[in-house]
Amino acid sequence: MLFLALALCLSQAANSALSEDAEVAEMVQLEDYALSKADIATVPRRVARQVKTLLTKETKPHIQEYSVQTTIISRYAFTAVSCTMFNRHSAATQGVFQFQVPAAAYVSNFTMIVGGRVFPSQIKAKEKKVKKDKGENNGKPKSKESTEVSDGEMELFRMAVTIPGRNRAIFLLTYEELLQRRLGYYEHVTSIRPMQLVSKLSVGVTIVEHSHIKYLEVLPLRNSRTSTSSSSSKTDGKESMPVSTVIRQNKTFCKITFTPNIVQQVKIANNGMLGDFVVRYDVDREIGIGDIQVLDGHFVHYFAPKDLPVVPKNVVFVIDTSASMVGTKIRQTKEALFTILRDLRPSDRFNFVTFSNRIRVWQPGQLVPVTPNSVRDAKKFIYMISPTGGTDINNAIQTGSSLLRDYLSTSAESNHNSVSLIIFLTDGRPTVGELQTPSILGNTKTAVQEKFCIFTIGMGNDVDYRLLERMALENCGTMRRIPEEADASAMLKGFYDEIGTPLLSDIRVDYSEDAVEYVTQHFFPNYFNGSEIVVAGKLANHNSDSLHIQVTASNSDRSLRLEKDVLLTQREQETKQRLAEAEAGPDSDGYVERLWGFLSVKDGLKGRLRSQTSSEREKFTQQAANLSLEYNFLTPLTQMVVETPQVLSAGTLAEPTEAPMATDSEAANQLPDQESTGGIPQSLHRKKEQPARRPAASMAKNGVKNTAKKSVTLSKTSADGDPHFVVDFPLSKLTVCFNINGQAGDVLRLVTDHKQSGVTVNGKLIGAPAPAGSHKQQRTYFSSIIVVVDKPRRSYIEVTPRKVILDGRDRMILPCSSSISVESESLGVAIVANANVTVTIQKTIRFIILLHTYKNPAPYQRDHLGFYIANSQGLSNSTHGLLGQFLFEEVGLTQLSGNITAAKGNDTQEASITGNLEPRPLALKVKERTIAVVKKSRRIYSGSQIVDCWFARNNAAKLIDGQYQDYVVSHLFDTGDWPHGTNTH
Ligand SMILES: *[C@@H]1O[C@H](CO)[C@@H](O)[C@H](O)[C@H]1NC(C)=O
Ligand SMILES: *[C@@H]1O[C@H](CO)[C@@H](O)[C@H](O)[C@H]1NC(C)=O
Repeated sequence: MLFLALALCLSQAANSALSEDAEVAEMVQLEDYALSKADIATVPRRVARQVKTLLTKETKPHIQEYSVQTTIISRYAFTAVSCTMFNRHSAATQGVFQFQVPAAAYVSNFTMIVGGRVFPSQIKAKEKKVKKDKGENNGKPKSKESTEVSDGEMELFRMAVTIPGRNRAIFLLTYEELLQRRLGYYEHVTSIRPMQLVSKLSVGVTIVEHSHIKYLEVLPLRNSRTSTSSSSSKTDGKESMPVSTVIRQNKTFCKITFTPNIVQQVKIANNGMLGDFVVRYDVDREIGIGDIQVLDGHFVHYFAPKDLPVVPKNVVFVIDTSASMVGTKIRQTKEALFTILRDLRPSDRFNFVTFSNRIRVWQPGQLVPVTPNSVRDAKKFIYMISPTGGTDINNAIQTGSSLLRDYLSTSAESNHNSVSLIIFLTDGRPTVGELQTPSILGNTKTAVQEKFCIFTIGMGNDVDYRLLERMALENCGTMRRIPEEADASAMLKGFYDEIGTPLLSDIRVDYSEDAVEYVTQHFFPNYFNGSEIVVAGKLANHNSDSLHIQVTASNSDRSLRLEKDVLLTQREQETKQRLAEAEAGPDSDGYVERLWGFLSVKDGLKGRLRSQTSSEREKFTQQAANLSLEYNFLTPLTQMVVETPQVLSAGTLAEPTEAPMATDSEAANQLPDQESTGGIPQSLHRKKEQPARRPAASMAKNGVKNTAKKSVTLSKTSADGDPHFVVDFPLSKLTVCFNINGQAGDVLRLVTDHKQSGVTVNGKLIGAPAPAGSHKQQRTYFSSIIVVVDKPRRSYIEVTPRKVILDGRDRMILPCSSSISVESESLGVAIVANANVTVTIQKTIRFIILLHTYKNPAPYQRDHLGFYIANSQGLSNSTHGLLGQFLFEEVGLTQLSGNITAAKGNDTQEASITGNLEPRPLALKVKERTIAVVKKSRRIYSGSQIVDCWFARNNAAKLIDGQYQDYVVSHLFDTGDWPHGTNTH
């Protein structure tokens, strides 16, 4: 019995030192698929070298059963592969198990059962390499330790073992991954390449989601992964699913099976290379804080807002035109750039830099607006590109950066209205100018000044991926690989599509202080349409039942804040119930915690790659390594130790000479101490988190405060209920009230000051039957309130009980069920979920609209709105409208002399309703008119407060200027002034 610890490297094929001594033990090999030149079938050299002496076609063990089962719980995927091989010969022979694991996934277990005996594996810390390459000093690239993973990339997991004669070997492999949303969907890929026909082949994908699955598609088997993997469009389900695929589905649950029999397999490929089984799906989401799931003291938060206005972008394409690009590469790059040009938006700005030994800028010294002419000129420029010379990466980045930097510094407005990025494409390593990786990276950081992000794309096999990866990581971008022979044009376009539509920038997610710890990355420079932000953490205090969440972000010149309180026990129950319903199995136990572990390892690896000092690097390394061990993940910092059977020459298994676990005591010392979860460095804690790249403007230093619950101060001047008007005259210390019996469908002018402050408020009435026993026939309520703001530019805010539509330069629809605030310099809209909406104009005018909604409305009840003027400072004294006309008035109260006519008619009836109050008639002097009033009390603020007021009867006749008809406007957005001229004094 032998134990062998071998490094698992994500190394280039050329570098990997394989043990030729394959008889006793084999190295488990994770080979970077993308770098290994495609299909294993076409690269038989590795297999040949490895097993040529042992394995010929005739003796190859027969795969009896091959099963790949995946359970995806809210985007976190557990996959279990099981492969049963039978050696039907009497002599021992070698069986090779290999499986393509998605590069973003971590292997979490591997176990073999050979000849009936179990051979487990162990994840151990990688031994420290005693090497001289300290820190960054050696510019020699090595593409191990890769953390950045791109679309469709696979790594090969390989295990060769000697199977005794007439015996079985069962290989059990599990791996886990978090599916990333790209271009509006999640994609799960299962590689089905058993390399022979299999009598029992089964693939299963089970999806359990919290939200409704709104899109699901099984693609045709994919074989050239690189060509279509990032194709931007969904295939409309036109191409057919692989034969034998069955989908069983309801709203939140889906089970897909693929079980081709031998005949069906032969039709696909008779060498057992069936290809990738690809499932794409997406879930419904509402705008707001996103989806929070809680399980076993951990939480995960998915945030993917939609329906936001697109933020304009400034983009500089820096394109390698060195000699090596000649031929297919440059042709495909040009094709992609032509398509990208077509997709630029009118508000975008762009430029091109091409580089070889020489740097060329398409339009020096500027960023070009997108116009038909500029796009045509750019196409000409791209068309004319012809590759030649070396690769001056440093100079190219410097040139691209200064274009953006100069533009941002001279154009003040663009600075906070747009997202700026460099898209850098190369197929090589630096050969001209600065050659040292650390210097190039240092120069880049200096040039970028954290003002924009760099997205890097490497094409082919001769790329310094480590340089590109670090460059992206250090400058808030991502790196993408385009493998040799891939359809680079489609991949490039696909990558551009992912980042071409920025919706938010400077996103910061915060949770109530003290309630959470070890939160994964929660500041994100950008959010692109179709993607998703995922944050996970531990719940610190199990006693606290609610978690307050706040997301702040920028959208063009607006800042957005979303808030929510989540009830933890309720969420946990929901999560558990869903898992039980779906019979998700033991895999799914603690999936939130494992997801947290998975993300934390990725964070640690990223931090490590980005770290500037060796102590920082060591800290991140420790953190990621400890977590890898804790969760049994095979990561670049751990290795898998596999016990392998030793076969006697007779072809039978040797009897174990010692207990299989004998060497474990030593290993145990390397495992993380369970007691001290202190193995996780403090830096994971949110409090110690490094500051935001650009400090989010409105963020309080000390974490999140629950502002959503903050009570708002209202003035009494309002129109609420059916509608009851209340006008407060603070100077006179008097409050007046009146009713308006309006017509359903009418739009009433409440406030109008269009000429001066540019503000108009209209309210639309809906009708409702009066409750039984009421003296009225019909009642009316405000069903929508429209605020039109004309300065500094025209905006419309339409408030209804369910949503707020912000319209102006672009359109944003906010649901009233979430606490969201949107602020720009001159205009702020803040929704407190299901309670109220505050509209603030120029900081000196503030309206508050109360949301009255009914869960189970009675026949006479209607969802409606109440309108309150909270601050009228910024309105001019020529403001008019039903409420506006009183804002700058004063009133006085006098005793009514007996013969005032207004005190007649049905007024007695009104008076008797309020009979508990002083019946003696009084008169109000307003605008040189005298109006009879009686004392009354009104409930305002949703009934929470009672105000005593002087009630003017008869639909406020004489109190208001003119009559009802004068206040009816033609449409919701009517900004016409008071028809009888301004309200003169
Ligand atoms: C690995 O898988 C084997 C076989 O399914 C199982 O017995 C073992 O407990 C697993 N190990 C870990 C660490 O999960
Ligand atoms: C969906 O299907 C699963 C499994 O069959 C079942 O447990 C669950 O209750 C179903 N859900 C709905 C909403 O029908």
